[in-house]
Amino acid sequence: MNLDEVLDKRRALRSLDKVEISDEDIYKLAQAASLAPSCFNNQPWNYIFVRDQQLIDQIVESMPQGNQIWAQNASMIIGVFARKDDDCTLGDREYYLFDTGLATQNILLKATEMGLVAHPIAGYDKKKSMEIMKISHDYNLITLLVVGKKAKQIYQNLSDKQQVTEEKRPSRKDLEEFVYFDKYEE
Ligand SMILES: Cc1cc2nc3c(=O)[nH]c(=O)nc-3n(C[C@H](O)[C@H](O)[C@H](O)COP(=O)(O)O)c2cc1C
Repeated sequence: MNLDEVLDKRRALRSLDKVEISDEDIYKLAQAASLAPSCFNNQPWNYIFVRDQQLIDQIVESMPQGNQIWAQNASMIIGVFARKDDDCTLGDREYYLFDTGLATQNILLKATEMGLVAHPIAGYDKKKSMEIMKISHDYNLITLLVVGKKAKQIYQNLSDKQQVTEEKRPSRKDLEEFVYFDKYEE
C-alpha cells in the first residue's frame, strides 16, 4: 500500500472482529511510533498494549454505552500517555500532546497497513482506565486506541449513525475552510 492508500483506508471503524495480535505486531506498531518527529527529539510518548481479556473488559466496562457496544470486541486496547515535563513547553505551547499525537498517527497508519483497525477514542473513564493500567498520576492518559480487525458485516447493535459511518466516511471540511495562502483571512 502506498501512503495515499493507507490514508484512504485508515478508518475509525466500529464493527470489529477478534484477531490474534503478536508481540511482533506490537513492536512493529511501536517502531512506527518511534520514528515520529518531536521537539528536541524528546519522544514524550508512552504506550501500554493491553491484550489481557480481563483488563480489556474492565476498561470497556468503564466507557460510556456508545463506546461499550463496539469496543467490547477489541482484541487489544492501547493506552496512550505522556506528561508535559517530558517535552518542550515554549510559552503557551505545550508540545507533549502534539508530539504524542504525531507518534500515535504513525501507529494508526501502521496498523492500517498491517490490516488492523486502530480506532482512537476520548470516551473512556480516565481515572479508572489509569488505575487498571497502573499509570501514575503525573501522566496524562490522552487517548485509548481500540484495536481489532474489520468485520465482514456491519454490526447491527451500532446506532443508525454509527452504521452509516461504517460504509461512508464522515464528511470533511472543504479545503478552502482551513487552507490560507500567505496570510490568514476571516
Ligand atoms: C481524539 C479523538 C477522540 C475520538 N473519540 C471517539 C469516541 O469516543 N468514540 C468513537 O466512536 N469515536 C471516536 N473518535 C473517532 C472519530 O469519531 C473519527 O475519527 C471521525 O469521525 C472521522 O472518521 P474516520 O476516522 O473514520 O475518518 C475519536 C477520534 C479522535 C481523534
